[in-house]
Amino acid sequence: MHLTLKLIGYPIKHSLSPWIHHTFIERSGIEGSYSLHEIPSEEVFEEEINKLREAKVNGFNITVPYKQTIIPYLDRMDVTAERVGAVNTVSLEGDKWVGYNTDGIGYVQALRDKFPDMDRNIDVSILILGAGGAARGIFHGLIQAGYNDLTLANRTKTKCEDIVKGYQASVITLEEAEENLAAYDVIIQTTSVGMNEAKQIVDLANLRKDTIVSDIVYQPLDTPFLNQAKEKGGRTHYGHLMLLYQAQKAFEIWTGQPIDVTGMDEEMIARIK
Ligand code: ATR
Repeated sequence: MHLTLKLIGYPIKHSLSPWIHHTFIERSGIEGSYSLHEIPSEEVFEEEINKLREAKVNGFNITVPYKQTIIPYLDRMDVTAERVGAVNTVSLEGDKWVGYNTDGIGYVQALRDKFPDMDRNIDVSILILGAGGAARGIFHGLIQAGYNDLTLANRTKTKCEDIVKGYQASVITLEEAEENLAAYDVIIQTTSVGMNEAKQIVDLANLRKDTIVSDIVYQPLDTPFLNQAKEKGGRTHYGHLMLLYQAQKAFEIWTGQPIDVTGMDEEMIARIK
């Protein structure tokens, strides 16, 4: 088997995904390649997608800004991608393109691998900050894994209401979240706030010691949010792990084989810093 894999998005030049997937390819013993296919604008999207179809690539990842743009080009979507309304992984199955979303399940796996107590206790109370695409993926990942005490907080509260529609979950404001931080066992920051800037979405003054605090931003790895969490005695979880584990889940879809990520966490940190 020779796997031809791609990443589509814009901008993607500095993506760590080729390194991650080449490491997987090497570890799996499968022959293959994973390369960038930059699509600079919506206007040329269809033309570029047709090239991938003609080339019969085995699969590809989709990142910003095309996770929804790809949907009309797919033959089928799995139930998670359907619920999230966005696709980050496409697999050629027979002659059909099937869309998946591995962001949420990848994220949950990343959390469980670092904090094994998360595995045993699905009753932990979890606060998700933000209500964009990443929050939606993580919300469904957590629901799918069985977590039953979820709260969403966002600057624009109606966006949270839209995400939780049909599910059992609470919605609060960012101010309420800030005040009641001690009520949560796990706090997940899903917005771009803190990316290359000294801002944080909420102040963590009221954080309880030993709370798991996760930030999906990984530029920088030490966001102001995670720095304050550390000062308050929180257990921190870094943003690059979501990238690593969504890739692991994608590779498993393409190959049908489990893949070991041992050691890659540390190597990614070295590459980001
Ligand atoms: P993505 O798809 O990457 O998650 P997005 O859909 O643009 O990104 O969502 C961005 C999220 O960051 C939203 O929750 C947004 O809050 P609003 O829904 O109120 O816009 C949040 N966000 C961005 N900048 C913010 C800021 N300065 N303060 C608070 N929240 C912010």
